[in-house]
Amino acid sequence: MDKRPERRRAAVKGRYAVAPARLAAALITVLAVTACSGGVDGTPGSSGTRDPLFPRLGNDGYDVQHYSLDLDYDPASGHLKGGATIVARAVKNLSSFDLDFAGMDVQEATVDSRPAAVNRAGDELTLRPHHELAEGQTFTAYVRYSGSPKTITDPDGSLEGWLKSPDGGVLALGEPTGSMAWFPSNNHPRDKATYDIKVTVPDGLQVVSNGELTGKVSNGGRTSFSWRTTQPMATYLATVAIGPYEIDDKGMTKSRIPIYTGVNPRVKKQTAAVVAQLPDMLAWEEQNFGPYPFSSTGVIVAPEKSSGYALETQNRPVLPLDHFDASTLVHELAHQWFGDSVTPATWRDMWLNEGFAQYTEWLWSEDHGGPSAQRLFDQEYAKDGGDEIWAFPPAQPPTAAEVSARPVYVRGAMVVHKLRQAVGEQKFHALLRDWVRVHRYGNASTADFTRFADEEAGRSLAASVWDTWLYGDGKPDSP
Ligand code: TRP
Ligand code: ZN
Repeated sequence: MDKRPERRRAAVKGRYAVAPARLAAALITVLAVTACSGGVDGTPGSSGTRDPLFPRLGNDGYDVQHYSLDLDYDPASGHLKGGATIVARAVKNLSSFDLDFAGMDVQEATVDSRPAAVNRAGDELTLRPHHELAEGQTFTAYVRYSGSPKTITDPDGSLEGWLKSPDGGVLALGEPTGSMAWFPSNNHPRDKATYDIKVTVPDGLQVVSNGELTGKVSNGGRTSFSWRTTQPMATYLATVAIGPYEIDDKGMTKSRIPIYTGVNPRVKKQTAAVVAQLPDMLAWEEQNFGPYPFSSTGVIVAPEKSSGYALETQNRPVLPLDHFDASTLVHELAHQWFGDSVTPATWRDMWLNEGFAQYTEWLWSEDHGGPSAQRLFDQEYAKDGGDEIWAFPPAQPPTAAEVSARPVYVRGAMVVHKLRQAVGEQKFHALLRDWVRVHRYGNASTADFTRFADEEAGRSLAASVWDTWLYGDGKPDSP
């Protein structure tokens, strides 16, 4: 399903229920702690970070610094063998801690090389280390696992996780929850980390992932690809694309960032002209938003019907043929600043991603001979009060099913336009650049943004922008 507003089907879904598994996980954690005689003051990390839309995701109690994933995939059987080495820091004394992990069998877990007790309950994987972890302590958890990774249906009905295509290829995508289908993690955007992702596949297939390719080694009919991400990345932006991709690693942006693209040969003809525009798009976005935040860029062009949506996977977004055009590429590249470098503090802050990426499409149109942002705004405003773009305020998606619904994109972009009108051209452009510079590689909330914009404007924009456009119910009375 397309997450982009123009082509997206209506998302009408029930509430994201708190599964009984969560209760079970809590009970097991309690039992594990009671049974831990060595512990004095350590308490278990919780199995969730109380995200307003996805309360079960993520885990409090530790902060991941680095994931090192070693994956071995057999396309013929669909079997994955994995090893995840997770370097993290305890932020409180911990008797046990949770990782988010869906499906797969866990063979072994260690913490600092000593066996750890393992509990599975729903999507929570609880590890109880031999010794308690002290607040501030850095530790290394290792999980060895195998199985056929799941496809996860997210609350709005779209598919993510480990997506297999009929040609034996794979597209691993994770917004908002799907990365836990292929590696255990602290699966919340708040906990960003660096990554090494190594994937071994039969000779002849390519593996394209985030960051930079640091090694490619063939041995006994199989090839290992090693990818390294050295700037912090949220779990939902991790990707692996396996298939007969055609690679181009010769390009360079104007600012001398290496470009690595993987294009499925079946869709090369139809997409080549737009892929060739990527350096110009990035040069234009760097003019607007400041330096590109990462050490490499590119795009992964997948066949149609592989995911049903495009995604701003870090460094190189994924665009399947059925969601491929210049405007979508501009959108996904804008996310490298808005979402990937500056990541929402919670899933409720999604409009900070989608409103800005959508507005970037309007700016691109305005600067490249299409309708102006004002025209595009007016077209949206003309929609009657019952239209789905007015269904809820962009900063307040009511449930997890609405995290990618139209108000987040379209009304989100309208907020950005109202801000531009309120502060004027010069301040608006300075504000965009300052925002992504100040919060580079971090997280930010809606409240952070409104406070920041008020400061840059030199006055409160509550009455002119936030109260109506960002937080107000229904269609605002005047444009
Ligand atoms: N972020 C994607 C885009 O706009 C769309 C998307 C895919 C999405 N999965 C999602 C948005 C989950 C919110 C939540 O290109
Ligand atoms: Zn988007």
